[in-house]
Amino acid sequence: MNPSVPLIPDTAPFSSEQRAWLNGFLAGVFSRTPAVDGVPSHREATPALQPLTILFGSQTGTAEGLAKKVAKAAGKRGFAATVLDMAQADLARLAGERNLLAITSTYGDGEPPDNAKALHTALKVAASASEPARPLADLRFSVCALGDTNYVQFCQCGKDLDAWFEKLGATRVSPRTDCDLDYDAKFTAWLDAALGSLSSNVGGSLPPDSSATSGHKAPPTTETEPTYSKQNPFPAPILAVDKLNAPGSAKEVNHVEFSLEGSGLVYEAGDALGVLPQNCPDLVTELLTALGCDGEEAVPVPDGGTTSLRHALTTCYDLARPTAEFIARYGAPAPGAGGGTATATAVQHIIDIVLARPETRLAPAEFVGLLRKLQPRLYSIASSPKAHPGQVHLTVGAVRYEAHGRARKGVCSTFLADRIPVGSTTKVFVHSNKAFRPPASSDAPMIMVGPGTGIAPFRAFLEERQTTGAKGKNWLFFGDQRAATDFLYRDELLAMQTAGVLTRLDLAFSRDQAEKIYVQQRMLENAAELFAWLEAGAHFYVCGDASRMAKDVDAALYRVIETAGGKSPADAAAYVQAMKAAKRYARDVY
Ligand SMILES: Cc1cc2nc3c(=O)[nH]c(=O)nc-3n(C[C@H](O)[C@H](O)[C@H](O)COP(=O)(O)OP(=O)(O)OC[C@H]3O[C@@H](n4cnc5c(N)ncnc54)[C@H](O)[C@@H]3O)c2cc1C
Ligand SMILES: NC(=O)c1ccc[n+]([C@@H]2O[C@H](COP(=O)([O-])OP(=O)(O)OC[C@H]3O[C@@H](n4cnc5c(N)ncnc54)[C@H](OP(=O)(O)O)[C@@H]3O)[C@@H](O)[C@H]2O)c1
Ligand SMILES: Cc1cc2nc3c(=O)[nH]c(=O)nc-3n(C[C@H](O)[C@H](O)[C@H](O)COP(=O)(O)O)c2cc1C
Repeated sequence: MNPSVPLIPDTAPFSSEQRAWLNGFLAGVFSRTPAVDGVPSHREATPALQPLTILFGSQTGTAEGLAKKVAKAAGKRGFAATVLDMAQADLARLAGERNLLAITSTYGDGEPPDNAKALHTALKVAASASEPARPLADLRFSVCALGDTNYVQFCQCGKDLDAWFEKLGATRVSPRTDCDLDYDAKFTAWLDAALGSLSSNVGGSLPPDSSATSGHKAPPTTETEPTYSKQNPFPAPILAVDKLNAPGSAKEVNHVEFSLEGSGLVYEAGDALGVLPQNCPDLVTELLTALGCDGEEAVPVPDGGTTSLRHALTTCYDLARPTAEFIARYGAPAPGAGGGTATATAVQHIIDIVLARPETRLAPAEFVGLLRKLQPRLYSIASSPKAHPGQVHLTVGAVRYEAHGRARKGVCSTFLADRIPVGSTTKVFVHSNKAFRPPASSDAPMIMVGPGTGIAPFRAFLEERQTTGAKGKNWLFFGDQRAATDFLYRDELLAMQTAGVLTRLDLAFSRDQAEKIYVQQRMLENAAELFAWLEAGAHFYVCGDASRMAKDVDAALYRVIETAGGKSPADAAAYVQAMKAAKRYARDVY
């Protein structure tokens, strides 16, 4: 039996409770494996199982991965859990559910991730009615919001869903949790509390961990956990760091190659690589001097244990953005409100505040206790594993700028650019992004819009199609500042064009003429052909800058459908929605 196919599909004429019960019953009969998308996460047949839907909104897979963890944990507590992508959910579907745990990230300036957009809008509209109906009156829920405190609209999508579920009549059984990038502890606490509340609210029939007392055995783990993961990253040897821009460029993009030999790590075109960076040693030394420390002082590290202050500041703590506690302790002015995104405001870094407040002297342990944990950075993988077995390649734009009178370096991009000699190792993990894959059908056409470092996954997609001999047509829109210096992967792309793998290559070099030309202009110039590709079933992909480019390309896509397809704005919106539902419009934007 194929374990990824529900026995009783969502389309069958049963309520979600009936469906869950039947799936539970049949799962026990057939002893099937647990915790796969849309599949109940238990194996023993019993009518006592409570249905639980785990709804996820996710752009780069974090919330989706956590939803699967919830399903496993819920299965162990005697729930018949089903993982549901928000793209597949609407208000009617939710109205038929009884128990719901929702996990969602936030994007843009407080916006939902792409797969949650339609549901977010539907809930907003329904909840904004002057006297909202209560279609969710039978639903008990709790929300886990993922976000990043660097953004002003922290966890906004989760906050929205939490408020709207309640407004539409649902009962919150456990409070919402808002998680920062370092989500592990908060997520685990939320999960425990939420499952506990749901269990104790079902007529007292389910103890906190019913697997211990009810005879439901914990589902066997069929997926073997990989040896290396985000929690246990692989020290990958560096094979190469090559500058992709020619001399004279205003940009600095590096092609970085790691070996994954012997790690057991596997990835697919479309995935990202997590990289654990280290802070610049010069910055660490400057900070130690400002603190009056020699670096040998013992301090705690975020995940337990102790190490020297120098080592902790180099590898464990974020020396850029101060926490609210840090600001309060130093009596520093709060960061300016500024714009909505992390990149819009040049906040004072830790070193600025320490240098400005020499009178504040903290013990080393107290000092590090006020810092954030240094986070891994994600990079879209630029290689196909089929073309480069045992290797993983990245396309990394070095972040360098000046703020508050001092030169700044992005932690990870300059760690990769400046501080990792070939042969040294860097800790990495694979971050799966199942929503961003080349078309499943090798015959389907593929349109890729990837200016700047946005080219990365499309190099992987094209390599994948070249190595597998996929027959589908491929069209790439690439742009950057200048053709002479910034045509990233020029020779490879031209060779793919010659080989017939790259059917069309349209270029937009923004600064080679007086007027800026961007990729979306090339889309509009080729609207008729682009629409013909869409009509032929093309998948449309966008990668790169989220704040400006991805929004403008999205608007251009609507325009193409309206003008070349002769559609009204409403029909164009429905056309794009249908593309999304068919997973033919996918974005990997940052
Ligand atoms: C799914 C995903 C895929 C990604 N793929 C890629 C990729 O393929 N290639 C790639 O290069 N990046 C990619 N990124 C971005 C990458 O993860 C890092 O965010 C990027 O490299 C910067 O990290 P850093 O540590 O060098 O900089 P950080 O130390 O994190 O510094 C960046 C911060 O510096 C500040 N800043 C930057 N410029 C300025 C300025 N001019 N003025 C004031 N402040 C400024 C902003 O606060 C910004 O957030 C991706 C991100 C995601 C989420
Ligand atoms: N916050 C910042 O100040 C900042 C700046 C650069 C990069 N970044 C980060 O780094 C990522 C990738 O940077 P990158 O250097 O590889 O590429 P990039 O900055 O996105 O530039 C690639 C090309 O896109 C052009 N571009 C600028 N605005 C555009 C728009 N609205 N629509 C379409 N194209 C547009 C650029 O032109 P022009 O440059 O000539 O306008 C350039 O030719 C970005 O996604 C962003 O997250 C941030
Ligand atoms: C381009 C971009 C924009 C983001 N915007 C926000 C935001 O406005 N508010 C917030 O709290 N988090 C924001 N985040 C952080 C994500 O919500 C967070 O990284 C989350 O863990 C990602 O989960 P996912 O992989 O399931 O999408 C943003 C992240 C990126 C890359």
